[in-house]
Amino acid sequence: MDETRTAAELDQEAAVRGLLEDYYRDGKPPWDSGVTPPELVALIEGPGALTPGHVLELGCGTGTNAVYLARHGWRVAAVDLVDRAVRQAREKAHAAGVDVTVLCGDATQLDDMGLHGPYDLFFDLSCYCGIPLHRRDAYAAGLTKRAAAGARLLMFGYGPESFDDPISGVTADELRARFPGWRLTDVTPGTNPFPTFWFTLYRSATAA
Ligand SMILES: C[S@@+](CC[C@H](N)C(=O)[O-])C[C@H]1O[C@@H](n2cnc3c(N)ncnc32)[C@H](O)[C@@H]1O
Repeated sequence: MDETRTAAELDQEAAVRGLLEDYYRDGKPPWDSGVTPPELVALIEGPGALTPGHVLELGCGTGTNAVYLARHGWRVAAVDLVDRAVRQAREKAHAAGVDVTVLCGDATQLDDMGLHGPYDLFFDLSCYCGIPLHRRDAYAAGLTKRAAAGARLLMFGYGPESFDDPISGVTADELRARFPGWRLTDVTPGTNPFPTFWFTLYRSATAA
């Protein structure tokens, strides 16, 4: 993959990272509810619950859902761009007495982190929808490379209408285009007062 980025693209990445770091530096970020969403609980504990396997969480924040998954028997690796978030996630896992591998790094550069997979499940709670557009193909390629046959990606994302800026947000059409070799099987609107969606994608079992 061509990793060449323009100066403007690098500036955009730095700006996004800076904003995220500010949120964590200023205290508890607004998204850090400490509550595992019912959509993930349904997948892990509900009727037809998945058999625990290997899961990779992208943009894990302070680790609430990584810890939840580990408590339910999953082998968990979790990644976040912001070191303060990563430290808190590690502390949360330690306090909970569960084994979670929490790494500080970029979900669009998984090759740099020694995460090899394969993973049966990927979980993304509003990470992808904030990643600059020019990095999203690399995100998709990283997951595809590490996906077990038939792996699932459960992603929560904000629709583009939820933001004032032109780069944030995600749509079903975008995911179909950026994840070749995956099937988008479900798009369920979230319960937020602005457009949000739960997306389910499967890595085709026969894909190369
Ligand atoms: C809206 S927050 C959600 C955090 C967490 N999933 C939660 O729900 O509490 C998005 C998270 O993704 C992380 N993030 C954003 N871009 C990332 C990237 N390229 N690689 C890894 N993490 C990223 C941010 O640092 C932040 O913790």
